[in-house]
Amino acid sequence: MRLDVFTLVPAAFDWIRERRPLAAVLGTELDLRVFNYRESTPLSAGQVDDDPYGGGPGMVLRVDVVAAALDNVYGGAPEQRVVALSPQGRQLDQELVEELACQRALTLLSARFEGFDQRILDHLCTDVISIGPYVLSGGEIPALALVDAVARRLPGALTDGSGEVESFSVALDGGLEYPHYTRPAEFRGWTVPEILLSGDHGRIETWRRDHVRSVS
Ligand SMILES: C[S@@+](CC[C@H](N)C(=O)[O-])C[C@H]1O[C@@H](n2cnc3c(N)ncnc32)[C@H](O)[C@@H]1O
Repeated sequence: MRLDVFTLVPAAFDWIRERRPLAAVLGTELDLRVFNYRESTPLSAGQVDDDPYGGGPGMVLRVDVVAAALDNVYGGAPEQRVVALSPQGRQLDQELVEELACQRALTLLSARFEGFDQRILDHLCTDVISIGPYVLSGGEIPALALVDAVARRLPGALTDGSGEVESFSVALDGGLEYPHYTRPAEFRGWTVPEILLSGDHGRIETWRRDHVRSVS
């Protein structure tokens, strides 16, 4: 999969390259490219945003700047889905992550300040996605969340199959994963459920099934 991110803060995407599971698939299953709007802006002095028409606070990411950034990389309208990160978009959930992880290529657009000129969302994007009903200062953290969630669904990202039985997975009927415990078996009087220490895999499996919670 090729994942292209457009941002004003490319450095925000440096650390994730070195961390698993993304590091495990980079260069094989995943090609992650990061582009700075400022490098292709048609405006002088690296300008990318402007005052909102009608007045008001904040700066708005310009449509001509985003169009130029896409043209510069794709030579026209990209063939793949183009996702704008915005609090006003469809809320990201595991079902959408699975859908996006099946794409051969994906483009993510992030903004800062007041956000996107509406024409970017209306004409240059196929999807508008929010990571939750709250406002962050920029699209970099939402883009990182999406990149991480998608990357861990790619083949080889999780070596031990731990991605198959997780909260929201089909294996758990979309429910929340059962509790986990590790050593010590007792700490400050807080004990581990006896059944998990029993070595009886059948009963442990039943216990785990019984402790999957449904999403309310
Ligand atoms: C300060 S926000 C703009 C908020 C916008 N003025 C509004 O009220 O809806 C700046 C940028 O951060 C990103 N962003 C903030 N919160 C987000 C969220 N919950 N999901 C996805 N992107 C978000 C978007 O790229 C957004 O354009």
